[in-house]
Amino acid sequence: MVNYLSECVVTANNPFGVILTPSHPFQRIIDLPVDTLRAMARQHQLLLLRGFKSDFVDQSELTRYAEQWGDIMMWPFGAVLNIREYSDAKDHIFDSSYVPMHWDGMYKPTIPEFQIFHCVDAPGQQNGGRTDFSNTKKLLAEVDAELLSYWRNIVITYRIEQVAHYGGKVTSSLIESHPYSDALIMRYNEPAVADKRFINRHVVECHDMSEAEQDELHRTLHGFLYDERYYYSHQWQTGDIVIADNLSLLHGREGFIANTPRHLQRVHIQASPVYMNKALQ
Ligand SMILES: [Fe+2]
Repeated sequence: MVNYLSECVVTANNPFGVILTPSHPFQRIIDLPVDTLRAMARQHQLLLLRGFKSDFVDQSELTRYAEQWGDIMMWPFGAVLNIREYSDAKDHIFDSSYVPMHWDGMYKPTIPEFQIFHCVDAPGQQNGGRTDFSNTKKLLAEVDAELLSYWRNIVITYRIEQVAHYGGKVTSSLIESHPYSDALIMRYNEPAVADKRFINRHVVECHDMSEAEQDELHRTLHGFLYDERYYYSHQWQTGDIVIADNLSLLHGREGFIANTPRHLQRVHIQASPVYMNKALQ
């Protein structure tokens, strides 16, 4: 892999993405050129910045850093979402359960291009809580033409009760054109597994398909999205920064042992120009 950044060590992540580690003990993330990082994130879909001197002791510092990446997508809670387990969670995001694959902003007027995650506290190695990513751009570039043409006709409506910071009803084609390139991307929110504990279950309705056809579609998509060619499951270490391409990837979460200290902060960066959500009803 070409080392674009003399300030750090750049290695390939498997099966996609790039890992950046410091080349000296006092290397700081805020000193890395954001234009270069942004270009790398667009090319590789995921950056893991690990082992750097911590710059983000409080969330205002993370916000200031994120502002260099572009316009921050603001939420009712502000710029930074604290993703952790709450005993009185009304939505699965704030529980310890797994989270099925989805894209962020699907119920909002705009879809952010990037997520910047900061791991404040990582669960132990054996406690679960990895964040899952599936590279739909890579998948759709490689999938069989006949299957792709079948998928291109599929339209899905999603509904979820708004009990947290998101919710409503959206209708989206399964396959969309990437807004700023020639690539195809998948927009899909997996149904939650029926026999697992899951707070605030969403509804997934594929248009003009029988129940059996829908079940078969979900099984097929699950097989591809979690295939080792397209799937990366990130085991967090405290201090990790992960920047993910929310347009090309879908993401979810592995369930984790309740009451383990898993705490992530997340900031959304708008695309430029801003990418309006066509799926919103
Ligand atoms: Fe998400």
